[in-house]
Amino acid sequence: MASTPVRPQHEVFSAERAGHLDTRLRRLLYRPGRLAARYVRPGDRVLDFGCGPGFFTREFAKRVGDGGRVYAVDLQEEMLHILRTRMETEGLISRITTHRCRPDTIALPDACRGTFDLAFAIFVVHEVPDPRRLFSEIASLLKPGGTLFLSEPPLVVSGREFGDELRYAGEAGFSVRERRLFFVNRAAVLVKE
Ligand SMILES: C[S@@+](CC[C@H](N)C(=O)[O-])C[C@H]1O[C@@H](n2cnc3c(N)ncnc32)[C@H](O)[C@@H]1O
Repeated sequence: MASTPVRPQHEVFSAERAGHLDTRLRRLLYRPGRLAARYVRPGDRVLDFGCGPGFFTREFAKRVGDGGRVYAVDLQEEMLHILRTRMETEGLISRITTHRCRPDTIALPDACRGTFDLAFAIFVVHEVPDPRRLFSEIASLLKPGGTLFLSEPPLVVSGREFGDELRYAGEAGFSVRERRLFFVNRAAVLVKE
């Protein structure tokens, strides 16, 4: 395996600042409902990796319907607690499984392998210590032909670093179907071969 270039150190977004992630302004800028409508189908099994307090999870859960499921995965129990409280209030919790992962592995049960239609990794991969391992775990969780939507903020993740992430994803068996902007952020839609 090729050596990993030295990466800039990025801090984990603290749960103390979770309030900044679920705001009206963010809804206007990112249109999470439109993102969900574009990529998620009713009945899908969706992985929301680095879900935070559930800003995107909410719209994925609305979109999958009662026949689908969203796995909301995060490192910080505080984020998952906020997410559960909000999704209970909004009547969506029955469609969501929350899972606290470790920094270096998603560690979902083996039974989840090859069962997901779609995964999202939005504004999180730069916070993960080993992106190579992350992409290969996501690949193993997706069905063949499954999709990964990846986005990173340009003020935090340089074009070069984003390019490295796409290369690691390629090594894990993904091919790039689309490069796009997600509001002002770099984004790519990848497909598991
Ligand atoms: C900037 S927030 C983005 C949250 C959400 N995707 C959004 O855009 O609203 C990054 C999230 O990734 C989580 N995170 C950071 N490192 C992680 C890791 N190694 N595994 C899982 N989650 C992680 C953080 O706890 C935080 O909730």
